[in-house]
Amino acid sequence: MSDRGNFASKIGIILATAGSAVGLGNIWRFPVETGSHGGAAFILIYLACVCILGIPMMTAEFILGRRTHSNIATAYQQLAPRQPWYLTGYAGMLCVTLILSYYSVVAGWTLKYAMSALLTEMSSVTDTEAYFNDFSSSVWAPIAYTVSFLLITHVIIERGIERGIERFSKIMMPLLLLIMVVLVVGALSMPGAKEGLTFLLRPDFSKLSPDVILSALGQAFFSLSLAIGCLSTYASYFKNDVNLSRTALSVVSLDTLVAIMSGFIIFPAVFSVAGVAPDAGPGLVFITLPNIFSTVFASMPMLGYIFSLMFYVLLVLAALTSTISMHEEVTAFIHERYQLSRRRSAGIMTSVCIILGILCCLSYSSLRDFKPFFGMGFFDAFNYLTAKFIMPLSGIVLCLFVGWRMGRRNVREELSNHGALHIPDWMCGTFIFFLRWIAPLSIALIFINELGLF
Ligand code: TRP
Repeated sequence: MSDRGNFASKIGIILATAGSAVGLGNIWRFPVETGSHGGAAFILIYLACVCILGIPMMTAEFILGRRTHSNIATAYQQLAPRQPWYLTGYAGMLCVTLILSYYSVVAGWTLKYAMSALLTEMSSVTDTEAYFNDFSSSVWAPIAYTVSFLLITHVIIERGIERGIERFSKIMMPLLLLIMVVLVVGALSMPGAKEGLTFLLRPDFSKLSPDVILSALGQAFFSLSLAIGCLSTYASYFKNDVNLSRTALSVVSLDTLVAIMSGFIIFPAVFSVAGVAPDAGPGLVFITLPNIFSTVFASMPMLGYIFSLMFYVLLVLAALTSTISMHEEVTAFIHERYQLSRRRSAGIMTSVCIILGILCCLSYSSLRDFKPFFGMGFFDAFNYLTAKFIMPLSGIVLCLFVGWRMGRRNVREELSNHGALHIPDWMCGTFIFFLRWIAPLSIALIFINELGLF
């Protein structure tokens, strides 16, 4: 297994794994979800989900990956030979392929907007809604951007773990955090900062419902890249002296920090321009914000230019560090299982995602009326199937596998790096208890509730 490659440094591990977690889910989806689900009330529930389920499940994925130093399907097979657990590994790879395909479409939009900010095209747009609709419903441009995004991902993956993923994350994640800090300071000094923060942080407990809890849980899973083998693939490249639970804690904290910071960027900005409705829908980043940027541009061109460019570059970077982690999961499997070169394996994954990604693009244009999946087109169907079915179900299996099947001794060995770290009994016991009972039962409850079975 020594020729599989490893992450070389601990900081590289944290930055690459946090790179997987930090993505469009934090900067685009989290503010939208918070804005429409009761502000601080949603944030509190989200934090609870992250602590109760996120940290133990991330640690469990790390255990699975680092224990076996293998891709996700082989990991299950190694630990439970000739038992059907490995099917979850295949389901995870299917899931990650579907997510990567539709995610690349949105990532392509961010690339388009970064280009448009760079070329100052964005500053002259007056009707930002028409601008977005014209772009997303055209046939070729979105496809070109989606394919470009996948090809950039491909190039990084092809270079391998240390020279590709790790090196890229070590440069891009600090840059991303720096851009965020600058944007937060900029946004907080805008005239609407106070109103924006009030909108974001006002705890509206009247909005709390099972549906909100469900959204918080879904958001936590998605944002932390949990449950479908993405993180265990990264963990298979961790060295044996990495403290798994501490790494999970760092990654979860970074991810949550970035999510909250993006709320602190977006809402103060939105409230700074009179007449812009604080639409909390998905159009926030592609319709409302460009509107703000062009207004700022009209009075302070330099500032408008810099802020818009920084914001969309931030989105591109965040998306890219996530797409490489999804890509790696399947590339690692093809590479190891079929003994193909890394370049070939990555090529297969990229090609499949390009085909599926094009179908997702077309569901906004030529195939707009083609809705064969219970009234949904490709984009929505991929999103629905992965978020509502495969992720929760593989999450349950993952917890049961590590909690029951791997057993206390293996888990303990991995958590303590074979005795090198002191892990108190209560901590190990609580961890196993969460994986055996709390996590699977809460996911199951929410899953069943959502299916409307009770
Ligand atoms: N977590 C990323 C985001 O917030 C997306 C992502 C990367 C992901 N890998 C994943 C989501 C695996 C689910 C599963 O944008």
